[in-house]
Amino acid sequence: MTAQADAEILSVRRDGPYWQMSFAAPGIADGFRPGHFVAIAVDDAHILRRAFSIRSASTKAGGALQIIVSPKGPGTKWLVERRPGDLINVIAPLGKPFRLPTEPVPCVLVGGGYGVAPLFELASQLRARGCPVEIIVGAGDAQRLYGVVEARRVSDAVHVTTDDGSAGEHGRVTDPLRRILAGGHPAVYACGPMGMLQAVSEVSAEFGAVAQCAVEESMACGIGVCMTCVLPVIGDDGVTRMVRSCTEGPVFFGDRVRWSEVGTVPADTLGAPEPRDD
Ligand SMILES: Cc1cc2nc3c(=O)[nH]c(=O)nc-3n(C[C@H](O)[C@H](O)[C@H](O)COP(=O)(O)OP(=O)(O)OC[C@H]3O[C@@H](n4cnc5c(N)ncnc54)[C@H](O)[C@@H]3O)c2cc1C
Ligand code: FES
Repeated sequence: MTAQADAEILSVRRDGPYWQMSFAAPGIADGFRPGHFVAIAVDDAHILRRAFSIRSASTKAGGALQIIVSPKGPGTKWLVERRPGDLINVIAPLGKPFRLPTEPVPCVLVGGGYGVAPLFELASQLRARGCPVEIIVGAGDAQRLYGVVEARRVSDAVHVTTDDGSAGEHGRVTDPLRRILAGGHPAVYACGPMGMLQAVSEVSAEFGAVAQCAVEESMACGIGVCMTCVLPVIGDDGVTRMVRSCTEGPVFFGDRVRWSEVGTVPADTLGAPEPRDD
């Protein structure tokens, strides 16, 4: 069940190009499923909570959660400067997680940058159900590549790509994805930048594979109140609606998101404003 708590920080340490933070989450960690996220209050000068995919849950301190933080702006920089014993206010677990297959089908997991973080626990759960798992780990360059060793630990095969060729295969995550899907993998899971998710969705559709994508649309409240996180999604009835990614996502079927129109309200969206004549 989702809960709000002042959580004690257990550790903050470098983890490759990013930071890994662990905080006590008794009564919260048990509810974690891969794809869930946490909304964290940062310093008093920034009232909006910051969202982070939950990387893993452990039994430390009666239940703890781990996240990966890429320090970019004030909130994330403030977070990685916290020390063990400090308290942070968290709301978790939030969102709808990845759906797991009922049959032991082969799965391919695609992570870009720190987007690999929620895929480790997903891989472990899929393999526990008998699904063979391959993971594609991609980044712009070797310096931003994250989680290759952990990916090897939890999967049957790992493919590494960098845009500039400084590590692994020179190219995009969609290059190995195409080769794998040509072999008939039906289930695709992805987390990373929106451009990567769009490309993964398009390639998956080309091969008739079902892709589930965890989006990172900017969020303000994280709990369904403010509508800042909406994106155009096609429903079962074929009608496009502006859907909140914090409550109905962050995981969506890739072929339902109108990726090229994210950030806009397409004219045929249910309830879209009528064009004005003046
Ligand atoms: C569901 C979800 C899961 C996320 N998981 C992670 C994670 O595991 N690790 C991690 O480091 N970050 C993650 N993010 C992004 C993280 O929330 C933002 O980086 C953070 O809010 C930036 O806050 P800031 O104060 O440091 O920077 P800001 O000053 O708020 O922003 C700094 C820069 O980050 C960009 N930014 C702000 N919000 C987002 C966002 N939501 N997505 C992408 N870029 C953003 C801004 O455009 C700006 O360029 C996730 C976001 C969402 C919605
Ligand atoms: S972030 Fe406020 S409604 Fe989704």
